[in-house]
Amino acid sequence: MVLSTGYSKIRTAVFISGSGTNLNSLIKFSKNIKSPISIKFIVSSNPKAKGLNYAKKYKIKKKVLNFKNKNVSEKNLLSILKINNIEMICLAGFMKILSKNFIEKFGGKILNIHPSLLPKYKGLNTHQRALNNREKYTGCTVHFVNSRLDSGKIILQKKIKISKNENLASLTKKVLIQEHKLYPKAILKIFSL
Ligand code: GRF
Repeated sequence: MVLSTGYSKIRTAVFISGSGTNLNSLIKFSKNIKSPISIKFIVSSNPKAKGLNYAKKYKIKKKVLNFKNKNVSEKNLLSILKINNIEMICLAGFMKILSKNFIEKFGGKILNIHPSLLPKYKGLNTHQRALNNREKYTGCTVHFVNSRLDSGKIILQKKIKISKNENLASLTKKVLIQEHKLYPKAILKIFSL
């Protein structure tokens, strides 16, 4: 993927709503010389998101938007991203659905990480549903974002075995560890294409 940038690294915003462990792994990755991205902005839909602490820790600009009025929040967001010369967005546990208009404004430059082997288990509660269905495997997926939920082009996936005595907590933890590796790998992959 080629982006028209005057900067040496792709100026990236990460959107979160919760604990931000993927955000943390992306920030660490971005500091590696081999990383094509630099995290310049954090957006949270939740003022209490634990992940916002990483903005303070790493001195990254942040904005909290409640998305109660999606139109207003997105308009506000688009101008903030423009002012900050943001060229790419990584969704990481972001619990709001972006409008088609917003997505189109960013062209192909929005990525998401989802805790399942898409196209299986789109939407919420993926691990519980996989456990309920006695799946032998689950996984995680990094994909481009389009206007249909969890349906954009897949960049990379990791298949993960579900153990016999797996429960929701153990599976969530196990998949998250893999997510933290997969997101940076997927970013490296799109920029080496
Ligand atoms: C991850 O499992 C991600 O795949 C999903 O939400 C979770 C966010 O975790 N979309 P975190 O906020 O990155 O810790």
